[in-house]
Amino acid sequence: MNIQIVKPQPGPQAAFIQCTADVVCYGGARGGGKSWAIALDFWLHAERHGEDARGLILRKTREDLKDFIDTAGHMYAGSARYLEKGNFFRFTSGAKLYCGYLEREADAANYQGWSLTRLYFDELTQLTTLSSTLYWEAVAAHRAFNEAKELAKTIDGKAGAGADAIKGELEALAPTGLQRNVRVLRGRRGGGGPATPTLEAASNALQAAAMAMQGAEVAPTATQVAAANAARAQAQPLMARWVAVKAKAAVLK
Ligand SMILES: Nc1ncnc2c1ncn2[C@@H]1O[C@H](COP(=O)(O)OP(=O)(O)O)[C@@H](O)[C@H]1O
Ligand SMILES: [Mg+2]
Repeated sequence: MNIQIVKPQPGPQAAFIQCTADVVCYGGARGGGKSWAIALDFWLHAERHGEDARGLILRKTREDLKDFIDTAGHMYAGSARYLEKGNFFRFTSGAKLYCGYLEREADAANYQGWSLTRLYFDELTQLTTLSSTLYWEAVAAHRAFNEAKELAKTIDGKAGAGADAIKGELEALAPTGLQRNVRVLRGRRGGGGPATPTLEAASNALQAAAMAMQGAEVAPTATQVAAANAARAQAQPLMARWVAVKAKAAVLK
């Protein structure tokens, strides 16, 4: 009989397994044994708690997840079996380790309300959460707002149809009041409907959506996700307009 003994390596792997804290962050270089430590940690938990043990491991993509399932599958050989239908390891003790991925923000909703005794994020740094993405988008929109105002000042003295078109665009994206004589383009697409928002308003909406979500990283509510999507849908065309205007202004001499 070929018996293999599985045990943690001394150092961070052993410290991770032994740690009794509710939240443990384990970093380090590729190949350092982090994924292996997760698989072993759950196995020990499964042996201790039997069918009460219910874990979830999350990775960024389905491909990344396969890598974990391979690693864990080798380790568990004989003690747990991976069930493709249901995406979980079933241990002989009755414990279950679900394996999932968070490729898109909306995937997080799949795990809302799960009752788990262990939750692992393998390669947490790859999981850009929706709230952090929104936050950076808000910063970018606000930077664009400031740049657009500066550009409006530098272009103020220029004349001609090309300059006027740019002034009108800038006044719509970041009103400065400088362009009193220029046809303001805000809301023109609505054909007299509500004015399109400014870059500043878009930035504020993104920030508000990010803040609302901060306490719910893993499972934002449907309302929070909808608000985030609306804020992004509003900001994206404005940012595209800003990039286009900036390019036009750069060639205007
Ligand atoms: N405690 C251990 N005992 C034996 N081999 C181990 C142990 N920990 C890690 N390894 C080996 O090191 C390799 C890399 O570990 P892994 O957990 O994939 O690293 P990381 O996730 O940090 O990149 C594993 O495939 C395994 O072969
Ligand atoms: Mg790994």
